[in-house]
Amino acid sequence: MKVADLTQLPAVRQIARTASDWVDLERSVIVAGLRKAAPRARGRLLDVGCGNKPYQPIFAPHVTEYIGIEHEATFIATAAGHRGTRPDLTYDGQRLPLPDGAFDTVLNVQVLEHTPRPRVLISEMARVLKPGGLLILTAPFQFRLHEQPHDYYRYTSHGLRHLLEEAGLEIEETFQQGGLWRLIGHKLNSYLAFRVARIGGVAQSLGKLGHEAASVVPPRLWTLPFVGASMVAISAVARVLDPLLVEPDETMSFMVLARRR
Ligand SMILES: C[S@@+](CC[C@H](N)C(=O)[O-])C[C@H]1O[C@@H](n2cnc3c(N)ncnc32)[C@H](O)[C@@H]1O
Repeated sequence: MKVADLTQLPAVRQIARTASDWVDLERSVIVAGLRKAAPRARGRLLDVGCGNKPYQPIFAPHVTEYIGIEHEATFIATAAGHRGTRPDLTYDGQRLPLPDGAFDTVLNVQVLEHTPRPRVLISEMARVLKPGGLLILTAPFQFRLHEQPHDYYRYTSHGLRHLLEEAGLEIEETFQQGGLWRLIGHKLNSYLAFRVARIGGVAQSLGKLGHEAASVVPPRLWTLPFVGASMVAISAVARVLDPLLVEPDETMSFMVLARRR
């Protein structure tokens, strides 16, 4: 039996997914930020670039409707082999097929780096928000290349402010997501997982790594005891050091909460 097959057993899957979510220093900090922001969501929510709608359980208790939309071409190109919830709507990446002011909340999580024309996407999200409606957006500042070739940009907090204000949005708050130690830990763990143990395919079989191209290389099982123990230790140290030794100029991602004027 292959490792990827083992991960389809419900109990193994549950344990492996919980453990890998804890070790994943990037996803865990984004999910924590979204949990904090979720009570500010209201009414009809549009998740733009929703992927498999992983954040629906976090936001559903706070909103009346949760609609996920995806860029059809990029979603389909990377959907093969991925399971999970599908978007409610797809579109061509130009104009959202939705009326002006139709949503109270727009969610946009780690999508802005994947569109070659971020200004267009931001102005479309502003257009479908009601006046006073809330945009909850996260975008990476430092992250490895992913979902290639559709990986175009990284963002600073100042760049995001500029782009959002230009589209008629007013910034309410900006948060850094993860500091220097999480960043270093995440890079080390990515190297260990993808290059040393080659467990990208196993992570995908657990529903992780979003819509990245399917990993075809076999895992190096003999490295797993060393790699697994090292990744857990690295994550634990990073989680302890991150709030203690703060380096204000380093982060993994930014989260911005902005309202339509
Ligand atoms: C890194 S994934 C993030 C998916 C999901 N938001 C999450 O956090 O799991 C980026 C997603 O953005 C989508 N995407 C890229 N350009 C887009 C656009 N212009 N409009 C909507 N979605 C887009 C891609 O198809 C992909 O599913």
